[in-house]
Amino acid sequence: MTSLEGRTAVVTGGASGIGAACARELAARGAVVTVADLDDVGAKSVADEVGGKAWPIDLSDASALEQLQLETDILVNNAGIQHVSPIAEFPPDRFRFMLTLMVEAPFLLIRGALPHMYDNGFGRIINISSVHGLRASEYKVAYVTAKHALEGLSKVTALEGGPHGVTSNCVNPGYVRTPLVTKQIADQARTHGIPEQEVTEDVLLKESAIKRLLEPEEVAALVGWLASPDAAMVTGASYTMDGGWSAR
Ligand SMILES: NC(=O)c1ccc[n+]([C@@H]2O[C@H](COP(=O)([O-])OP(=O)(O)OC[C@H]3O[C@@H](n4cnc5c(N)ncnc54)[C@H](O)[C@@H]3O)[C@@H](O)[C@H]2O)c1
Repeated sequence: MTSLEGRTAVVTGGASGIGAACARELAARGAVVTVADLDDVGAKSVADEVGGKAWPIDLSDASALEQLQLETDILVNNAGIQHVSPIAEFPPDRFRFMLTLMVEAPFLLIRGALPHMYDNGFGRIINISSVHGLRASEYKVAYVTAKHALEGLSKVTALEGGPHGVTSNCVNPGYVRTPLVTKQIADQARTHGIPEQEVTEDVLLKESAIKRLLEPEEVAALVGWLASPDAAMVTGASYTMDGGWSAR
């Protein structure tokens, strides 16, 4: 593994699932990792495990992030949630909340981190998007809208950051075995009126050439590589890891 010795990293939503796996991966590569999460107990637990720091924070409170100065070399924008509902019944405040957490907060974190990265001539911004940043699915209007917006944010950051040694990329997983997906399987079973196993096989993995869920560690391995010197020329890209879903 390429060393991230001497680097600092912030992982949002680092208390669970993909974020926790990213915190472990970056720490294993030598970075000092700050675990930012609403779940303060979970954040502390992952931070203690990886020898890093916990940053208990509610990233949906965007106004609190406006004056932020974030001294980190690597920023992983990962915190996110899902809400499954047809558009006509989708609560407007839920839509607004998800756009704040999944678009506005990443913008403000990037905005707060770039001055430090520019000063050092080095930075890695890694945005955990989704196959839903590139493709749509019914009943996920806020999620699909937010992830498509994150793709745009990532590309503009890549263009502005390039001359300063800062790269920005998206990672686009299909379904990953995390609490977010376990909850979705239950929600979709209710929405479609079918058993949970049928949701996994016939709904979630319908478009996937490889019929299994991703493991969080597989996503984290890609994040670790994007943070490494080997990926210095990779920017403005969106890396699918979706078992072939988006090949269609
Ligand atoms: N699980 C998947 O299949 C999958 C697929 C593609 C993309 N993603 C994306 O990966 C990211 C992580 O998903 P996951 O599956 O690991 O989810 P998860 O539910 O396991 O973890 C999400 C973390 O975000 C934190 N969080 C939620 N709201 C927050 C807030 N307001 N402020 C701070 N932290 C908050 C939670 O406390 C939790 O620790 C999300 O952006 C998700 O959209 C997940």
